Amino acid sequence: MKNYLEKVQNHMMALIKELGDDHILRLFKSIESGKMVRSRLLKLIAENETSDLISLSSIIELIHLASLLHDDVIDNSDTRRGKPSINATYGSKVSIMLGDIFYSKAFSELGKFDYEIVSRVAGSVTKLSLGEIVDVRLSEHFNHDENIYLNMIYNKTASLIETASAVGAILSNKDVETYSKYGYHLGMAFQIVDDILDIVASSEELGKPAMSDFVEGKTTIPYIKLWHWLDNNGKRYLESLHKKHLTPDDYNWLLKNLEESGGIRQAKDLAKFHSKSAINLVKDSPELIEIAEKLLSRGF
Ligand code: FPP
Ligand code: MG
Repeated sequence: MKNYLEKVQNHMMALIKELGDDHILRLFKSIESGKMVRSRLLKLIAENETSDLISLSSIIELIHLASLLHDDVIDNSDTRRGKPSINATYGSKVSIMLGDIFYSKAFSELGKFDYEIVSRVAGSVTKLSLGEIVDVRLSEHFNHDENIYLNMIYNKTASLIETASAVGAILSNKDVETYSKYGYHLGMAFQIVDDILDIVASSEELGKPAMSDFVEGKTTIPYIKLWHWLDNNGKRYLESLHKKHLTPDDYNWLLKNLEESGGIRQAKDLAKFHSKSAINLVKDSPELIEIAEKLLSRGF
């Protein structure tokens, strides 16, 4: 797998080199490659290492990277993958324009593929963008609607993972529906685990203060579950903390109630449900099962 991921990274670099701009190439090289989950899935599902597979992995990684460059501007994030973000170092304009370059270069490459692949990848980019805008809109007020949250995380995170799995199946003539569902469940579990870790992991592990999501206005699933459990006074109090700087007392109140209400446990159960649903679809692939298991053991 390491060898495959290196080939993808090299292919991405070759695509950026084609632009003929050394500064952009240096910026690209300065970005940490991350776990490359989408490429791992593509390889494990498609199995045969063809040039089409490497090309599609590179396209999906470039789109993902572009979305993170834009997301860090939108979220005002100083760090990405444990390093200062591009917007923190070079400013928002550079981060947005670099994202545009990665995104459009990926789409130029995508044009070489069949319609089914093009429409799935392009469709998931529309979903990513929709998920992001809903995420930002929801953070303006305290959202306590679980279905809206689930739909948002599907669009924002699960859709591209679903697509990576589906195109892996298309390339190898496997059942697209099965792998698409696998990617869907994996993506949902991935984002729910991320949202739980924002509460339960230490600030050192996160590289940012715990409960940053809530301070930014994001009422992820544990907060939604807590809201429904609280009485009217409790609900008003929880809403009064939304998007505020948290004192140590506020933080302790939140943590105690998130635990007592079962909000964290119910969120974990939902992540487990999605991970198990993913596993049930790929019983014959120990590597795909391992990805779904590892994801859950990340921190809890
Ligand atoms: C991270 O979410 C953000 C995403 C997964 C999607 C962002 C999508 C866009 C900005 C629109 C698409 C744009 C292009 C150019 C393709 P997060 O903020 O919850 O996670 P984080 O903690 O990793 O920042
Ligand atoms: Mg973000």
